[in-house]
Amino acid sequence: MQSFKELIAQFIQHFDQQRFPEHPSQLYEAASHILTIGGKRIRPVLCLMGNELFNDIHPDAFEAGSAVELFHNFTLLHDDIMDKAPLRRGKSTVHTLYGEPAAILAGDVMLINVYEYLNKVDHAYKQKIIAVFNKAAIEVCEGQQLDMNFENMAPEEVDYDDYVNMIGLKTSVLLAASLQLGAIIGGAGEGNQQHLYSFGKNIGIAFQIQDDYLDAFGDPDKFGKQQGGDILANKKTFLLLKALELCNAEQRAELTTLLETSPADKVARVLALFRSCKVDEWAEKEKERFQQLAFECLDNIAVLSSRKEPLKELANYLLNRQQ
Ligand code: IPE
Ligand code: IPE
Ligand code: MG
Ligand code: MG
Ligand code: MG
Repeated sequence: MQSFKELIAQFIQHFDQQRFPEHPSQLYEAASHILTIGGKRIRPVLCLMGNELFNDIHPDAFEAGSAVELFHNFTLLHDDIMDKAPLRRGKSTVHTLYGEPAAILAGDVMLINVYEYLNKVDHAYKQKIIAVFNKAAIEVCEGQQLDMNFENMAPEEVDYDDYVNMIGLKTSVLLAASLQLGAIIGGAGEGNQQHLYSFGKNIGIAFQIQDDYLDAFGDPDKFGKQQGGDILANKKTFLLLKALELCNAEQRAELTTLLETSPADKVARVLALFRSCKVDEWAEKEKERFQQLAFECLDNIAVLSSRKEPLKELANYLLNRQQ
């Protein structure tokens, strides 16, 4: 069994061979840009780990891993347009550098390349791999639409379960499917695949809770995104939903006014209110709750518990990350 750090290094070697044609340069430079500015590469590593939980790593796991990483980067290009984000991985976003048309088209080309990778896997499980991937890919779009719908809804119209459902779709299903793709390649049975998927789904929810926490309270130099971007976009994150639940009447009135009027100091004032309602502390407990649920799913997988250790290490890293 290899640690997630060893697997990331192996994946990067494989993935860095990705090349685009030269022309039209606007299109392919946009696509190359997002792939050459870093990123944690956790989805392909989940794929490799899903495989290694059951068997030696098969070369197909690198192909499926490349597919999910490329898909993830495609979603980031489109997400940054939708979220009007100026920064990604500490650099200007692709649409601000190359324009929205090139960013949309670079995403489209990458999505098509995803299927070039998926097409390379052994025909014995290709159909199943594509079905699992497609289900997740469609759910990501559904989650992203819900996220956008919530921007235009009043906070009291979105409850916490709606938020968990939305982040489960936009973020968790891809992590869960990455694990399942690896498990399929590793020859796991359907029951074990489902337990591993559920592990990924719960870790993914905690992962997005951490993402939303870092968007507000992270160090922008490490996190690489604009601080308070979610506040500026009126995202219905758990921070806002929970703050409205925990605050007093005076705080509620201030928060509501800030959301409706968006003054120049909106981010600083909303963050101060979040802190005084202690929603940052609440995030810790909520991550632990989902991590606990995830580890229970992992317990159900019928392999030696020592084989599950690298996945637990990765989960701990993801839920405490600063970037
Ligand atoms: C960012 O994902 C988008 C979310 C689902 C929160 P990552 O945090 O995995 O982004 P990179 O690939 O490491 O930059
Ligand atoms: C992203 O959620 C989910 C997808 C990209 C599908 P966010 O909008 O929170 O991701 P970041 O914070 O921009 O990376
Ligand atoms: Mg975003
Ligand atoms: Mg978004
Ligand atoms: Mg975010």
